Amino acid sequence: MNIDWPQLRAAAVDVAGRAYAPYSRLRVGAAGLTGDGQVVVGCNVENASFGMTLCAECGLVSALHATPPRSPDDGSPGAGAASSPRLAAVAVVAGDGDPLLPCGRCRQLLLEAGGPELLVDTAGGPVPLAELLPAAFGGADLSARRD
Ligand code: THU
Repeated sequence: MNIDWPQLRAAAVDVAGRAYAPYSRLRVGAAGLTGDGQVVVGCNVENASFGMTLCAECGLVSALHATPPRSPDDGSPGAGAASSPRLAAVAVVAGDGDPLLPCGRCRQLLLEAGGPELLVDTAGGPVPLAELLPAAFGGADLSARRD
C-alpha cells in the first residue's frame, strides 16, 4: 500500500501537542495508518502517581481498537478484535518533531496491533517492527506452551 510518511509524521507532531506530560516534560505523539487507510493517533498522558503513565502508543492502540473497519472484511480475527483494523505503519515523534523509537513495552503492544511487518518510522527511515523487536514473545507461544 502507499504510505504517506510526511502526512503520518505531521499527524504525530500535531497530536504530540496534545500530550499531557507535566512531569517528564517530554511530549510524545504517535500516528498510525491502518491497513484500510485510516489514521489513528495517541499522545502520552502522565499522572502524579508516576507509574500510571500512559505512553503515546498505548493511546494509539486504544484508538485503533475503538475505530471500526471501513468494511467488515477488513477486521482482524480473534476474540475481542473482530472489528478492529490492523496497523500498517506508525510514526512516533517527541515534542521536537523528530522520530522517537517506541519503548520496549510499546514495541510489544505494537506487535499485536500490526505484526512483525508493521513499518515503524526511525531517524533512518521506516523499518519493520521485527527489526526493533526480534525473537518476540507472542500469542503463538501461549497456545504452544500452556499446560
Ligand atoms: N513515552 C511514550 O509516550 N512512548 C515511548 O515509547 C517512550 C516514552 C513517554 C512516557 C512518558 O510520559 C515520557 O515519554 C517520558 O518517559
